[in-house]
Amino acid sequence: MNGTLIDGQDRPVVAVANRLPVHHGDNGWELSPGGLVTALRPVMATHPGAWVGWDGGTKGLPPTLPDSGVRLVPIGLSAAQVRNYYHGFANATLWPLLHNAIEKPRFEQAWWYAYRDVNTIFGERAAAALDDQPDAIAWVHDYQLMLVPQLIRERRGGQPTGFFLHVPWPSPGIFARLPWREQILTGLLGADVVAFHTDEYRGNFLRSCVRLLRDDDIEVRGDSVVLPDGRAVTTATAPISIDAAEFTQHAVEPETDNDIRLLAEQFRDRTLLLGVDRLDYTKGIIERLLAVEMLLERNPGLRTSISFLQIAVPSRDDVREYRQLRTTVEQHVGRINGLYTEPGSDVPVHYLYRGLSQQQLAAYYALADALLVTPLIDGMNLVCKEYVTVQNARGGSGVLLLSEFTGAADELPQAVHCNPFDVEGLSYRIEYALGLTADTRRAAIAAMAAHVRDYDVYRWVSDQLAEITKAATAVSRLSADRAASPCTAGGGGALCPGHWPAAAGRPQPGRAPGWRTPRR
Ligand code: ADP
Ligand code: F6P
Repeated sequence: MNGTLIDGQDRPVVAVANRLPVHHGDNGWELSPGGLVTALRPVMATHPGAWVGWDGGTKGLPPTLPDSGVRLVPIGLSAAQVRNYYHGFANATLWPLLHNAIEKPRFEQAWWYAYRDVNTIFGERAAAALDDQPDAIAWVHDYQLMLVPQLIRERRGGQPTGFFLHVPWPSPGIFARLPWREQILTGLLGADVVAFHTDEYRGNFLRSCVRLLRDDDIEVRGDSVVLPDGRAVTTATAPISIDAAEFTQHAVEPETDNDIRLLAEQFRDRTLLLGVDRLDYTKGIIERLLAVEMLLERNPGLRTSISFLQIAVPSRDDVREYRQLRTTVEQHVGRINGLYTEPGSDVPVHYLYRGLSQQQLAAYYALADALLVTPLIDGMNLVCKEYVTVQNARGGSGVLLLSEFTGAADELPQAVHCNPFDVEGLSYRIEYALGLTADTRRAAIAAMAAHVRDYDVYRWVSDQLAEITKAATAVSRLSADRAASPCTAGGGGALCPGHWPAAAGRPQPGRAPGWRTPRR
């Protein structure tokens, strides 16, 4: 582990996330897809504790994570729960809403009930895991589990708890569309620290609290939200990252060399443009394909000298919008190849619809002359961090095209930034990127890789655990002060312990002391 142990580093962690990090795939136990697992798995390998998550329908999971003592706490869900909680509320309501309503969020009362019920199950299982490890930090992840922090607090008052959101938080105007918006905010404010990838998302969250909880006597003070009972919830900006050392290692493994040789043969005499994503409508895959099409239309010479390879890992294919996306992507690939394949030559667009191992991905990253990361909105995007790391490890001079609407764009100013909504502009940005000199590109890759190495996922974890420990300690000090000098009146103001401020009156029946119970 990088760095020295600081506050919180030597404590066990009970991670609570929708998915467990492993599932049973075609080749036995495989890593679950997505950025959250990529980031958290190596971290949990260095921290004792437990990982509470949905078993994804897999039975016979190992009791601990391979290569570590982390206990797996699998949660089984019924088919109806998967449909209504995961496909429904998480991925057809919250996912589009939090991604700036880029697809229309669907609001269904039955989905909300399922979300609440499943969050309650997670909260209970997490509390039980914490009962077994009372010195652990509870660390709850992502939009699928936004009620869990408050549920843990109700079961284990004083439990140090952090929440990290792996996706964007939209402007208050968009978040306010959610019929259950106050319950979600209340759930999150059960944590000691609520953290985001960027200052923009954090600011949006704070402004959402001000706008939507103003009748609840909460107060935003700087970066904190002060609740009516005086407890302060800290917010933090903490851009997530990758295990840079692990990807550097993959870059130079003999298997990778071998894969690169085979791929180099396949793409002989072609400049390789690469896209690597979960098949998700936020990723701008359609815009990317249309930009490549324009490029080929404008430059007939490129039809036999470049290849664009899109690797898409299947995702959420029980959700209507994802199924439609798959069909649309396949139609575009077919159309472009139909139009621009020169007789006797290879097709210009290649498409793989499958998951690959990190080592296999490293070979593609190593060979690609350009990586096109063009999301319409993306909380962070780890693929670009993986690419610059592998390129740098092999002394490559690849170029990174990076949407300005990713969290990563803030951190990687040396990338060629682009606006994927401007498809024609994007096609020109690709041309521009390919025209940069190898020295310029290599220097940019080196600078970005250095940043990713310095701010790797281990540092992210250390900082987050320290932040949670610090915030929880401040809250318990406040409670101790309250006990030592109890307030004698109800009108002590927002920080007066144990009392609602006079203006707010007394808690009403059915409300938690100092904070309200989520409504149905
Ligand atoms: P998200 O969290 O939205 O999926 P990120 O870019 O943050 O997006 O993380 C995606 C993760 O999934 C990366 O670690 C990447 O390596 C991995 N990934 C993407 N495509 C594939 C694929 N085809 N096969 C295996 N892993 C993939
Ligand atoms: O990063 C957002 C996220 O939902 C993560 O929680 C998860 O790692 C990834 O996308 C994959 O999503 P799912 O678990 O729905 O396949």
